[in-house]
Amino acid sequence: MARTYVITGAASGIGAATAAALREHGDTVIGVDLHDADITVDLTTHEGRAELVDRVRALSGGRIDAIIANAGLATESTATVAVNYFGALATLDGLRPLLADSAAPRAAATASMASLMPHDDELVDACLAHDEPAALHRAQQLIDAEQGGLIYSSTKVALCRWIRRHAASEEWAGAGIPLNAAAPGVIRTPMTAQFTATEEAQKAILQMVPMPLNGIAEPSTVASLLEYLTSPANTHLCGQVVFIDGGSDAVMRGDSTW
Ligand SMILES: NC(=O)c1ccc[n+]([C@@H]2O[C@H](COP(=O)([O-])OP(=O)(O)OC[C@H]3O[C@@H](n4cnc5c(N)ncnc54)[C@H](O)[C@@H]3O)[C@@H](O)[C@H]2O)c1
Repeated sequence: MARTYVITGAASGIGAATAAALREHGDTVIGVDLHDADITVDLTTHEGRAELVDRVRALSGGRIDAIIANAGLATESTATVAVNYFGALATLDGLRPLLADSAAPRAAATASMASLMPHDDELVDACLAHDEPAALHRAQQLIDAEQGGLIYSSTKVALCRWIRRHAASEEWAGAGIPLNAAAPGVIRTPMTAQFTATEEAQKAILQMVPMPLNGIAEPSTVASLLEYLTSPANTHLCGQVVFIDGGSDAVMRGDSTW
């Protein structure tokens, strides 16, 4: 039976590939993005997040089957915190009530293997305390101290921890909603264009992010995982961060995880 999916960041890269795959399989997709989407809103703002919920409710008639919180930025900016963490949470929490009438409600987010990279605990803690002003302030401090490179990884650590903390709760598992994340390695999208443009650049990024299994991936690779995570077939994955990374997690964490 055709299902209705909401995908943020649907205009480009992984979100666009996921939307295309779902539509090809006969599902209805409500795409959300800053531009070129069914709903154009800015997920860094409170107004944009509220408008997202209102407009999804109006477009869907108040009933959706799956949420894919995928929109993200990888710049050294406060906006990266606002969209990657607070925008993702607003998407997941804000749209969760609209899953209530689905026969197979599902939710997933796009995390990153960057969650394995060095991060800033103060920024992660401010996110998890749901203190957006403090988180944005900390991100600005990191930028001023020329440590802005810690921002992206910190947003993804916080997102993964939030998912781990909430997936088994009454609101999610208790309501029959699997909540999980895909954590990609390096994927060929506009976000990573500077890392994939030349052979030299690719070599350099693969030294930082080892991907012994098939190297840099296409967005459709992640799309197929997000499609599975949000499909009726996924009945029992709960709070999993699934690394789809050509092996960087296995190389970098080795035995430490299991
Ligand atoms: N490309 C990679 O290698 C890679 C690796 C790991 C994780 N990711 C994650 O995958 C997700 C998708 O990234 P991508 O590689 O497809 O990048 P992309 O830049 O191609 O797409 C991201 C989309 O998010 C949208 N977006 C950004 N800020 C927004 C905002 N404030 N409000 C609404 N939409 C906004 C953009 O307009 C864009 O269309 C992101 O969460 C990213 O962190 C990407």
